[in-house]
Amino acid sequence: MTTVYLNGEYLPKDRALISPDDRGFIFGDGIYEVVRVIEGRIFEWGAHAERMTRGLAGLRIDFGSRDVEGLRGVSERLVGDNGLSEGEATVYTQVSRGAANRTHHFPAAGTAPTVYAFATKFVVPADLRERGGKAITYPDLRWARCDLKTVNLLGPVLARQAAAEAGAYEAILLRDGVVTEGAATNAFAVIGGSLRTAPLSNYILPGITRKVLVELAAELGIAIVEDPITHQELPRCEELFVVGTTTDVTPIVALDGRPVGNGKPGPVTKRLQEALLARMYTPAGAAR
Ligand code: PDD
Repeated sequence: MTTVYLNGEYLPKDRALISPDDRGFIFGDGIYEVVRVIEGRIFEWGAHAERMTRGLAGLRIDFGSRDVEGLRGVSERLVGDNGLSEGEATVYTQVSRGAANRTHHFPAAGTAPTVYAFATKFVVPADLRERGGKAITYPDLRWARCDLKTVNLLGPVLARQAAAEAGAYEAILLRDGVVTEGAATNAFAVIGGSLRTAPLSNYILPGITRKVLVELAAELGIAIVEDPITHQELPRCEELFVVGTTTDVTPIVALDGRPVGNGKPGPVTKRLQEALLARMYTPAGAAR
């Protein structure tokens, strides 16, 4: 039986009971994180914790950086207690504004946030990483604070479902004629020889993998131009790839049924993919 964490307790998943009044359930009023764990080590914990703290502050949920820091030990214990210290795992953590009678405005001060976390075994889809996957384009239906990792994921849910129905891995989201990001990834393209990705703004999630790639590209001497990729440019992409905690660097070799470049993962994609794996799978890199 899986052991999960709920509000200070470690308990079997089927005994983790959350109130139907929980604002995470009623309003999608909460923040979440997904971290990658390799041989018991959390990759980029500090960056995930910082983003979660910023997100909770953005929603004005009373759960500060010290509370978030405490979730590191929770995550590590869940990995251990569930027998996931060897191989790979992910830990999902969610903090909602807590349970209270339904009012749109915040509940009374002192309403305790609900904190829930679970660990899951992660198996790298090696074939997808190596050969690449397909993507579709899809309208970005989300609200204007995509920089906050809220549990309200209807835009990505509808986009990923459309992708699944088209036999594709990811949906590349378009807003006002430009690519924002993937439904659950950040997107990069090589166009006219230059590597591009959307600049950080309220319309994209500041991905931790994106941040690591920006660092790695600098180390490799690959310039990244943080300029939006336009819808019109997409057919001219020489390379396209998406990145994320459970995606690493995944080449996109076909978009909307047409090959990207020569239909195979490109050289810039492969270099960055290798550099990311080197960072993730060395203890020194992973401990950052
Ligand atoms: N998704 N953009 C969006 C909209 C995301 O949901 C994610 C991550 C990313 C990549 O961010 P990071 O590198 O920090 O994982 C970008 C997570 C993994 C999820 O929802 O499961």
